[in-house]
Amino acid sequence: MRAIVVADQAAGTAGMKLVERPEPRPAINDVVVQVHASGFVGTELSWPSTWTDRLDRDRTPSIPGHEFAGVVTALGYGTTGLSVGQRVFGLADWYRDGTLAEYVAIEARNLAPLPGDVDFTLGASLPVSGLTAWQGLFVHGRLQAGQRVLAHGAAGAVGSMVTQLACEAGAYVIGTGRAADRQKALDFGANEFVDLENDALKDVGPVDLVFDLIGGDIGKRSARLVRSGGTLVSIVGPAEARPDDGLAVDFVVESDRAQLVEIVQRVRDGRLRTNIGHVTTLEDAVAAFKPTKRIGGKTIIRVRP
Ligand SMILES: NC(=O)c1ccc[n+]([C@@H]2O[C@H](COP(=O)([O-])OP(=O)(O)OC[C@H]3O[C@@H](n4cnc5c(N)ncnc54)[C@H](OP(=O)(O)O)[C@@H]3O)[C@@H](O)[C@H]2O)c1
Repeated sequence: MRAIVVADQAAGTAGMKLVERPEPRPAINDVVVQVHASGFVGTELSWPSTWTDRLDRDRTPSIPGHEFAGVVTALGYGTTGLSVGQRVFGLADWYRDGTLAEYVAIEARNLAPLPGDVDFTLGASLPVSGLTAWQGLFVHGRLQAGQRVLAHGAAGAVGSMVTQLACEAGAYVIGTGRAADRQKALDFGANEFVDLENDALKDVGPVDLVFDLIGGDIGKRSARLVRSGGTLVSIVGPAEARPDDGLAVDFVVESDRAQLVEIVQRVRDGRLRTNIGHVTTLEDAVAAFKPTKRIGGKTIIRVRP
């Protein structure tokens, strides 16, 4: 099969190569899925799991990409709940070969059915940003209607999902980003927008929940905005500053079938819009990942045209 591999951490996206690899075989409780479309998170090449296995042994050359949509082609020993020919989407294990490939072997529990009226490109754009937003807001942030949420990077992949899901849950959402992101963040439903390069973050006033995907100085300044009993949720590692009288939580997104079903249902009925900036082919993927210009939104690779 054709797959994109990486073997040299120092090379970054310049080290990505489209090569021939053996098709994966399904292990216990796995399925093999023919990948139709795959996402890729720009920071993947800095994650340890791209380079080593769970025992910290070199696992290169490895196949990046961990969110995708496709069709089940084989079942492993003991696998239940999915069948050959079924359309699925989901989040692949960080420590296994990923989805920038024609086939992936993946545990069935990491997948959910992809409804027939949701195309593969759209399905592949949902797992990482949709699940991250869902878990940050509702599982770790325990968001309630009427609360105030500071959604950083509200025009980006995760932030646009955070903004929409928080609005739907009845929160008041203050989106942030660069000046050029204002209209996009408001279009995703933010009640107001803070331009992090020109506005004063402290003027936002107290919030119940900060969803931080930037970290650094912005993360530290955001911690001060969390009101008593509130929560700072970080997806960029442990918070460098904690709220005075609140919680600080950091987490890495996990696959969850029930949450994937909730997310795709919202896309189908129009409550949730995905944020795709660019769609390209497996042949052109390596060029598309080289950061030459700001795209805004996710890049999705159509592995099977
Ligand atoms: N822990 C987890 O499970 C998890 C899951 C998903 C993502 N993540 C991480 O979360 C981060 C965001 O991911 P994403 O996919 O949403 O990225 P993204 O689509 O690039 O969105 C980030 C947004 O924030 C903006 N931004 C970043 N730094 C900024 C700054 N200093 N001032 C103003 N705006 C700024 C970006 O603008 P520019 O493009 O102009 O910088 C972009 O609009 C990444 O670091 C990713 O690795 C973690």
